[in-house]
Amino acid sequence: MCGITGYIGFRDAYPIIINGLKRLEYRGYDSAGLILYDGDTIKMSKTKGKVSDLEKQVEKEISKGGNIGFGHTRWATHGVPNDVNSHPHFSESENLAIVHNGIIENYDTIKKELINRGYTFKSDTDTEVLINLIEEVKKQENVKLGKAVQIALSEVVGAYAITVFDKTKPNEFVVARLGSPIAIGIGTNNKEFFIASDASPFIEYTKNCVYLEDGEMAIIKIGRAIRVRKIQDDSLVDYSVLQLKLNLEQIEKGGYDHFMLKEIYEQPKAITDTFRGRMLVNKGLIRMAGVDDNIQKFLNAKRIIIVACGTSWHAGLVAEYLFEDIARIPVEVEYGSEFRYRNPIINEDDIVIAISQSGETADTLAAIKMAKSKDAFVFGVCNVVGSSIAREAHAGAYTHAGPEIGVASTKAFTTQITLLSLIALKLGLANGNISKTNYHTYLREMELIPKKVESLLAINDKVKYIANIYKDATNFLYLGRGFNFPVALEGALKLKEISYIHAEGYPAAEMKHGPIALIDENMPIVVIATRKGHYEKVVSNIQEIKARNGKIIAIVTQGDTTVKEIADHVIEVPETIEAFTPLLTTIPLQLLSYHIAVMLDRNVDQPRNLAKAVTVE
Ligand code: M6R
Repeated sequence: MCGITGYIGFRDAYPIIINGLKRLEYRGYDSAGLILYDGDTIKMSKTKGKVSDLEKQVEKEISKGGNIGFGHTRWATHGVPNDVNSHPHFSESENLAIVHNGIIENYDTIKKELINRGYTFKSDTDTEVLINLIEEVKKQENVKLGKAVQIALSEVVGAYAITVFDKTKPNEFVVARLGSPIAIGIGTNNKEFFIASDASPFIEYTKNCVYLEDGEMAIIKIGRAIRVRKIQDDSLVDYSVLQLKLNLEQIEKGGYDHFMLKEIYEQPKAITDTFRGRMLVNKGLIRMAGVDDNIQKFLNAKRIIIVACGTSWHAGLVAEYLFEDIARIPVEVEYGSEFRYRNPIINEDDIVIAISQSGETADTLAAIKMAKSKDAFVFGVCNVVGSSIAREAHAGAYTHAGPEIGVASTKAFTTQITLLSLIALKLGLANGNISKTNYHTYLREMELIPKKVESLLAINDKVKYIANIYKDATNFLYLGRGFNFPVALEGALKLKEISYIHAEGYPAAEMKHGPIALIDENMPIVVIATRKGHYEKVVSNIQEIKARNGKIIAIVTQGDTTVKEIADHVIEVPETIEAFTPLLTTIPLQLLSYHIAVMLDRNVDQPRNLAKAVTVE
């Protein structure tokens, strides 16, 4: 977590850094800070709070001049969010400054050693320990900054993306990564460079970008091509410069009040972008290089293990239903965090599918590294191009949802399901588990999904009306069955994370094994009761809720009459194949959580305590 951005070159660094921090604020937002170097002194300003608080403080505290500087927006790990613990941090001499994203696990031992050598510490952070370690190495070994960083990093255990500046050698930055991303934007003729946790802070300045790999560091010097080295053995790396495809419009709100709402409305396009060029309906073909190139591995697989976290884990649960139903391949869905630590049995003919919007989630990344060490074939389903999970996997496919900036995942979820549906269909046809006729029916239906989602978005006002009635509830229950059980979990997660209302998702039939005790006239219960998929049984559950005076918000198929008579509110979704219902039923649940959060005056795009990319365990 945490966002880092920096600039070194000929322009005013301040506007680049402050705007960059605003774009990276999704990564963490409990405190923010920056340094500027004006050719003489390093000016630092940092504060608890948002980037907008930092902006106000800079106005009062420091002059904004200087062509060199970097900033940080924080998601606290070591040390509470306060002014002192905010980044950047100076070394003891105040010649060195650092911003850091990640955790130094052995910081305490190093700190004690440094204290014995006379160092003092202002903050509780692991980062201040790291910058003092670098300073100590530089002094003891009498080496340049780059070498000192390299030696210091080989002593630390943990994860990091760092940028370091040395006032005594002010025309360079040293950056390094292990487990947390860092992108370097390269200006024309190497006259300027940009640093950022993702490329969004510098896309209007350059499209030339180098993503450091884990275990790499770079020396960035004005007027010289960057040098990338391996931290472990100092060997030079032959890096490649990528051309960014991202544009400014994609990372702006485009007239919507919040990124989350924009991203909900982007789903018809995002789903189309996911299957565009892959699903050739007229030819009856699904083309996906990552699967095509490894088709035998997929067909020989005895089992698929899906690893993911949060919303991506819910997409994995939908995929379990898809793969087992359509391709008849057994599936296990695992939380990355549990899988990596429980010594799981992984066989050579298992396929591990890692699902991650950001491609940076630490637990998912660690899970696939562990699976690889046990010789499993790892396939990544990521949204962020060039992300760590995408690069770590043996093969994979991007969802092409476009940047998702709202912390609550929306279009990432529906595009993950879209992509996984295509894989399931491809495998189901290849291994003979679905007929050609059925396969064609699925493809034709998938092609219609974006239009159906688009028409469904017209329910926005109705959902807003329902949100207003239930916004003050303190608990919500979400129920669904089959393909829509994961949707119930996802609906509950969306409500929890952005409105801070407690919500639970359950398989509808499990209600009578416990949650039914919670039901009274104050409890809103969202029930997914589409016509396909255990409809009668869900209707019985709705009756049971009614009998206990629960308030029922039912998601039903267009034209439903039965549930309409029992439920307090119904939201209709278009008819579709059962396996694709999650792509539709999810939408009203996203809107419901969005409107409730707005009505409660929550920070929808940056809910408390959360961050978009969870790059720590
Ligand atoms: O980037 P990832 O898909 O790996 O992220 C996983 C979770 O952190 C993420 O889905 C999280 O649960 C979202 N805030 C949910 O909206």
